[in-house]
Amino acid sequence: MPDSIKNITPSKLALLTALACGAGTFFVAFMLLALFNPTLQVWGLLCVMINIIFCYVLFYAALERFIHRKVKVIYKNIRRFKQPQGIVPEKTNMNRGILEEVESEVLNWADEQSSEIEQLKKMESYRREFLGNVSHELKTPLFNIQGYLDTLLDGGIDDPKINLEYVHKAAKNVERLINIVKDLDVISQHESGQLEMKWEKFKIYELVKEVFDSFEMLADANDITLCFKEGSAAGTIVYADREKIRQVLTNLISNSIKYGREHGKTAVGIYDMDKLALIEVSDNGIGIESRHLPRLFERFYRIDPSRSRTLGGSGLGLAIVKHIIEAHNQTIHVRSTPGVGTTFGFTLVKG
Ligand SMILES: Nc1ncnc2c1ncn2[C@@H]1O[C@H](COP(=O)(O)OP(=O)(O)O)[C@@H](O)[C@H]1O
Ligand SMILES: [Mg+2]
Repeated sequence: MPDSIKNITPSKLALLTALACGAGTFFVAFMLLALFNPTLQVWGLLCVMINIIFCYVLFYAALERFIHRKVKVIYKNIRRFKQPQGIVPEKTNMNRGILEEVESEVLNWADEQSSEIEQLKKMESYRREFLGNVSHELKTPLFNIQGYLDTLLDGGIDDPKINLEYVHKAAKNVERLINIVKDLDVISQHESGQLEMKWEKFKIYELVKEVFDSFEMLADANDITLCFKEGSAAGTIVYADREKIRQVLTNLISNSIKYGREHGKTAVGIYDMDKLALIEVSDNGIGIESRHLPRLFERFYRIDPSRSRTLGGSGLGLAIVKHIIEAHNQTIHVRSTPGVGTTFGFTLVKG
């Protein structure tokens, strides 16, 4: 079928039908008049013209009513979720390819629906994975605590070789549980956008020094030196949420110690970059293989889960760090070479 017929507009269709009827009546009238009364041919022609106009108006009105009714139902159904209730499409324009328009609207709508379904499926599997991870993370310390307590209740409490040790171990696992729950709380606050930002101007160098001080004991215990990189701009003032940036530095520096090597070094660099300040936390620890780097900031993603758990990690640290940096409208990146070391770098707006 030629395209001009396939894509015919309703008004053209009404006209063509009327012309066909007119031509039919013309032929019949002409034959009858030619045979019986040639003088009435003019009146015959007039009748045919009137017939064509009458047919055109009739078909046009019938088609318009029919199409408008059908289209209204389709629009109502597909727009039910898109438009406020009660909005009816404007009167059908018979000079456009209204059916083609409706067809393409329906196809667009179907596309949108399927991508929405895809999105929902993804969120659902994300939610399921998250729940699985949470329960797994909580189960491990809980079962440990239960084990220690059961042993103590079964007489271990009177055994001086294990009683104090088991109480300490149970307490350590309680601490881990608390850390996980606290991190989960922070993550969920970030994800629901509930966390308020307290913007202020401050010296980032001073904040790094404070975090270094809080890690002094742990660093000493692991024989790791905490220092600033050469050329760090000590006077740099940033405009950010001080407590949240403290959390970022705490997470990155604690990782650099946890995954650092003995007698190693954690160095923080502060660089002035026009409107931004770049802060880098580098270590010369175990490093990370490049295949892990794209997933590193995901919740619960850990390269060596058992090592991370032994070291007290929840696997949420870097996910929180990323949330905080994104809440500042900035970015964080990581570079690493296995066996050589890792550098995390993020930017902040200068104050
Ligand atoms: N400085 C680092 N060096 C080597 N690996 C690291 C470093 N920082 C993070 N990682 C890896 O990234 C994982 C995720 O880190 P994080 O989200 O802080 O979780 P956690 O420290 O609780 O395990 C860690 O388990 C570890 O495998
Ligand atoms: Mg961590």
